[in-house]
Amino acid sequence: MKISRGSPEQQLHLLLLLLLLLAGVCVVGYKPVIIVHGIFDGPKQFKTLSLYISKTHPGTKVTVIDLYDNLASLKPMWTQVQGFRKAIDSIMRKAPDGVNLLCFSQGGLICRALLSTTPDHNVHTFISLSSPQAGQYGDTDYLKWVFPDCVKKTVFRICYNRLGQKVSLCDYWKDPHHMSRYRQGNSFLAKLDGDTPHNNMKAWRANFLRIKKLVLIGGPDDGVITPWQSSHFGFYDSNENVVEMRNQEFYKNDTFGLKTLVARRAVSVCVQSGVKHVHWHSNFTVFRTCIEKWLT
Ligand SMILES: *[C@@H]1O[C@H](CO)[C@@H](O)[C@H](O)[C@H]1NC(C)=O
Ligand SMILES: *[C@@H]1O[C@H](CO)[C@@H](O)[C@H](O)[C@H]1NC(C)=O
Repeated sequence: MKISRGSPEQQLHLLLLLLLLLAGVCVVGYKPVIIVHGIFDGPKQFKTLSLYISKTHPGTKVTVIDLYDNLASLKPMWTQVQGFRKAIDSIMRKAPDGVNLLCFSQGGLICRALLSTTPDHNVHTFISLSSPQAGQYGDTDYLKWVFPDCVKKTVFRICYNRLGQKVSLCDYWKDPHHMSRYRQGNSFLAKLDGDTPHNNMKAWRANFLRIKKLVLIGGPDDGVITPWQSSHFGFYDSNENVVEMRNQEFYKNDTFGLKTLVARRAVSVCVQSGVKHVHWHSNFTVFRTCIEKWLT
């Protein structure tokens, strides 16, 4: 029996169809990327990064959430978490295969809080780009812009009370010399880390653990995140020596799931030197080395 192989024209059509199908599979393969900006910035600052993503992974849907931009980024962290949650929810709902979340600086803490307090999220990879995950304690330009009359030693007096907690920076300001004041007066990071006990901790941990991958990016020349190791969950002890993630109480107690993620080999740490804080998202070497491979 002779098997009909079709005319050359038919064969060409079949080949084209196959190529289209393959291309389609590739395009569909990239999960949507949601970007959450940091303090004093907004979507404008993330145009380069969006371009990097669409150039290297054509067809990826990239959304930089246009909320709490610039000065509005000083609003309380929990308020911002609610706002970002609404925006991100509607993107997640249209992405049955899940989304990837890339969050810069203060945005990294907004995202962590959002992941811990959203039971049904479908975030696959959470990329924390130079974010003060373990808190912030340093005399930086940002501190001067928010509290011109303060130095790091005195900020706790302003931050650790009801009024102070209405400023985002205070919500993750962690003064290693006043930890009991921090535990009493901080209503955001201390709660997220389980430093102040509350009944939701177990549920928050389970929510956070829905992610499949956590990518922590930061480096010693950042100049803003202080100590810079906070981008990898390290922080000062009471002598301002840096204690690495594995020796942090929240890690050892696995209060919010970090230790479990490490045990699952789901945490990737990327340290890059020579990168200033505002350059993380536009540096192509950083994108190539630390980000690109996770955006699948
Ligand atoms: C960690 O566990 C120890 C011992 O159970 C407890 O004393 C401490 O308060 C816990 N710390 C945190 C941050 O959960
Ligand atoms: C970009 O990142 C690399 C390290 O990944 C660093 O050596 C270089 O200085 C950075 N350039 C800028 C302009 O930030």
